[in-house]
Amino acid sequence: MITIYREDEIAKVKASGHITYLTHQHMKEFIKPGVSTKFLDEEAGRFIRSMGGIPSCLNYEGFPANICVSVNEEVVHGIGRDDHYLKEGDIVTLDICTLYEGYHSDSAWTYPVGKINKEKEHLLHHTEKALYVGLKEIKDGAPLGNLGARIQQYAESHGLGVIRELVGHGVGHNLHEDPDVPNFGKYNSGPVLKAGMIIAVEPMLTAGKRYVNILDDDWTIVTDDNRPSAHFEHTVVVLEDGYEILTGE
Ligand code: MF3
Ligand code: CO
Repeated sequence: MITIYREDEIAKVKASGHITYLTHQHMKEFIKPGVSTKFLDEEAGRFIRSMGGIPSCLNYEGFPANICVSVNEEVVHGIGRDDHYLKEGDIVTLDICTLYEGYHSDSAWTYPVGKINKEKEHLLHHTEKALYVGLKEIKDGAPLGNLGARIQQYAESHGLGVIRELVGHGVGHNLHEDPDVPNFGKYNSGPVLKAGMIIAVEPMLTAGKRYVNILDDDWTIVTDDNRPSAHFEHTVVVLEDGYEILTGE
C-alpha cells in the first residue's frame, strides 16, 4: 500500500530531511585523505543526535552503524571501520537516514577525496545528473516507470551500468515502504504517482558492468568487476505539477 501523506506529515518529513541535509553539509569538511571511515560514521551519528534526530540506519534489520559509508567499488551499505582510511583519489558515498519526530528521511551523496581520475569524475557527474533527470519525470498522474526508464536511458547513454538489485523506495513512517522505485524499466509502467506520495529516488550507477556481490560482513554490496560505483539520493514529495525535494535546505 502506498501512503498519501497529509501536509502536516510532509512538513515533518521535511524537518527530518533538513537534518539529513545539514548532516551532509557538516560531513564535507571531514572528507579528506587519512580520515577513517569509522570516524565519518561516528561524527555523522553525533551530529544527527545533536540536532534531536536518531540515525535510522542503526539497527535497521541489524545494521551495525549510524550511516552507510561506501568507498570506490562499494555500492551501498558499507560499514565504517577504524582500519579503513580514505586516500587521495577515492570516492566515498555517505548514505544518511534520519528519524525525527516519527518521520524518516533518506539522502545519499558521493564525494571525491582530493583529486579523482577521469573515470570517477565522469561517474560522479553523470550519476548526480541521472538523479535530477529521473526527478523531472515526477508529478501527479505520471507512471512511476517513467522515472526508471529515463534514468536507465541517461545512464546507459553515458556508458554507465544500472544496478538492478537495489532500488529506491517510499519513505516517511518507515525508512523503507511501498512503492519500489527502480532505476530501470519501461515508460508507461508501474504505479501511478499521486500528490502526497513520498519517495526516495536513488540511482546507483557503476563505471563498469552492472553486476554486484555481497561481502562476508553480509552488508557491503560491491561491484563484481571492482570498478567504482556512485549513488545520489533525495527524498521528495510528489506535487500536482512536479515534486519538492525534502532533503535539501
Ligand atoms: N538509504 C539506505 C537504503 O535505502 C538505507 C540503508 S539503512 C541500512 O537502502 F541499515 F540498511 F543500511
Ligand atoms: Co534509500
